[in-house]
Amino acid sequence: MIRSSIKGIGSYVPDKILSNEDLLKMVDTSDDWIVSRTGIKERRIADKNIKTSDIAAEASKKAIEMANMKPSDIDLLIVGTVTPDMIFPSTSCMVQNNLGIKKAAAFDISAGCAGFIYSLSVADSLIKSGQFKNALVVGVDVLSRITDYTDRSTCVLFGDGGGAVVLSANNESDRGILSTHIHSEGGHDDILKLPAGGSNMPASIGSIENHEHYIKMKGSELFKYAVNYLNNVAKEAIEYNNLNPEDIDLFVPHQANIRIIEATAKKLGFPMEKVFVNVNKYGNTSSGSIPIALDEAYRSGRIKERDLVLIDAIGAGLTWASSLIRW
Ligand code: ACO
Repeated sequence: MIRSSIKGIGSYVPDKILSNEDLLKMVDTSDDWIVSRTGIKERRIADKNIKTSDIAAEASKKAIEMANMKPSDIDLLIVGTVTPDMIFPSTSCMVQNNLGIKKAAAFDISAGCAGFIYSLSVADSLIKSGQFKNALVVGVDVLSRITDYTDRSTCVLFGDGGGAVVLSANNESDRGILSTHIHSEGGHDDILKLPAGGSNMPASIGSIENHEHYIKMKGSELFKYAVNYLNNVAKEAIEYNNLNPEDIDLFVPHQANIRIIEATAKKLGFPMEKVFVNVNKYGNTSSGSIPIALDEAYRSGRIKERDLVLIDAIGAGLTWASSLIRW
């Protein structure tokens, strides 16, 4: 049986830091409120000339190098993002050109903060089908471009960054992506959306004046869905693989809010030593969140060969997803 496994991983975040202290000069907030409600101390912001595809390409180069491959070895390229360079062509085609990947199928996936795991799931299935051998799977967002820095309820939460993995076919039956589970439930655009810029509300002077090109979120309503759905989809992965929570070596959840992470870990019975957290440094980077966290966990020695790693995420749609990986 063909499986897919992670041969390389990399991430990239911009150098520029936006700290809680910086935000105090922009909106009516406090370091104490932000840290106690979210766990975030600072986030990264891309310079004006940096596009989503640039961050994706930097992360991808590291992943391809670690996999000991050349760009030409990649035959499938999927980018999970909600902040594409432009509506079309896809950001994956930009990344393809940037990296000099000549022949590959390339497309984007829009699944909010679950974008990376959705992309991983699709790449895993296409590799298992035998159609592709080496997939580059990217999760990346430049949320600062769609964040309203006059809205204190959202602007403290988001940051920029991305990560990538090289996923390759292997024949080891117990190694690699053991499972993916993806779900969605439409009808929740009232709690999380970017209203303007699409066919529903094309750009106009009014849409700009009304700040409709920025993220609108009802955070406390989303919070309740987040804890329940993240718990359910993590359990689904554990039960599908006939495992118990104690078998998991590291839980790497979507980095949106420390209170969501802690509440989900508690429901699942994971002590916080088994949970990877970097939301304090980067805030919520949407599709970038999971691959950045996975890369940091791996490069800091928190993930070792053959560890069982559980990832899960929830985002706009609603969409939510999990994957269990034997590293
Ligand atoms: N500084 C100070 N006060 C603030 C701030 C701020 N930055 N933002 C909001 N407040 C105030 C509100 O105005 C409100 O005041 P009021 O009671 O006088 O009206 C009060 O704080 C409480 O606001 P809530 O929104 O109820 O605060 P809550 O405890 O729910 O925390 C938060 C807000 C952090 C957004 C939280 O709800 C959250 O994280 N939600 C989930 C977001 C999420 O999961 N996103 C992930 C999926 S989607 C994605 O990643 C894009």
